[in-house]
Amino acid sequence: MTPLRVCLLTGGGDAPGLNAVVRAFFHAAMRRGLLVYASHFGFEGLLGREPVEPLRLEDVRGLLPRGGSVLGCSTRSNPFAGPASDAAERLRSRVSELQLDALVLAGGDGTMAIAERLEELGIRCVGIPKTIDGDLGGTDLTCGIDTAVETATRAIDALHSTAEAHQRVMIVEVMGRNAGWIALRAGIAGGADAVLVPELPYDPQRVVAKIREREALGLRFSIVVVGEGAAAVGGAASVVEAAHSGQPARLGGAGDRLAHELRCRGVGHDVRVTVLGHLQRGGTPTAFDRLLATRFGAHAAQLCADRRFGRMVSLRGSHVDSVTIAEANRSASRVDPSGELVACAHAMGIELGAASASFRS
Ligand code: F6P
Repeated sequence: MTPLRVCLLTGGGDAPGLNAVVRAFFHAAMRRGLLVYASHFGFEGLLGREPVEPLRLEDVRGLLPRGGSVLGCSTRSNPFAGPASDAAERLRSRVSELQLDALVLAGGDGTMAIAERLEELGIRCVGIPKTIDGDLGGTDLTCGIDTAVETATRAIDALHSTAEAHQRVMIVEVMGRNAGWIALRAGIAGGADAVLVPELPYDPQRVVAKIREREALGLRFSIVVVGEGAAAVGGAASVVEAAHSGQPARLGGAGDRLAHELRCRGVGHDVRVTVLGHLQRGGTPTAFDRLLATRFGAHAAQLCADRRFGRMVSLRGSHVDSVTIAEANRSASRVDPSGELVACAHAMGIELGAASASFRS
């Protein structure tokens, strides 16, 4: 049988552990006799604007501790974005010119939506879930979120001492466009006093009340974690650049806006804002993310070898398995207001700011 020719790409924004995915997929695929190609900068390679090249052993050496992606990433190369394009035809002819049997797409919800369209066009795909936001459906965890939570937790730790020394309210803005997983996990792990997530519209007065409650106990500093997509009741996420040409809106400013809301409500402390931004996407992945990435990459190679296309690798409990890409796209992972993590935050006395009593224990 002629060897299967597969092309790997890392779609969307980078996430810690992507290089470990590339390395694992390469090794596992080679051992199964697959020929592995790489599309550089996401779909740019497949669209003919960047190279598509065979991946070699020397390309994947020393990758486990490295952040970013050696293949390059692009958030601007959605082949189906923008006005009616000839992308479908271009991709089809490129895939056939390169004699590719399948594409292996490591990415988040945007990449999996593209994968589903490609499958409909007859281009076979296997997905590998990565995103620091952890908002992709069909899997309990995505590659990258553990490192992002670690980074945010360490920031909260560091801010505690300076907050206390200066009797300040420290607001930490973390990533998480639609999902508050980073905010909630790091907030609990770092012992924040309040955590605001996109899933629970907040009442700023509840945050003020929490700060005052601590003051009454002689605790004259507070740490508030806010997800970038969080908004007050009746409000919307804070946007710095509106959506355009198929690109989602760029979020930013949730922390500053909250600081303003607190000051307007008479919080006497010096209120300062720290925006973690892309620090959460960079740096060396945690051992957990490297391991998950390696298991995901190896499983994706297995799916290809078994010709089980149209599937995305997934973690269920402690077990790596797969779901159909369509199934992953049908659901999104969001913080469940009545879930265990929210209940844990309540049990720790963390204020989630939710205006509706139904979200409170
Ligand atoms: O999807 C991951 C993410 O980190 C979001 O939390 C954030 O809104 C977005 O990427 C930022 O993307 P970019 O680097 O393209 O501005």
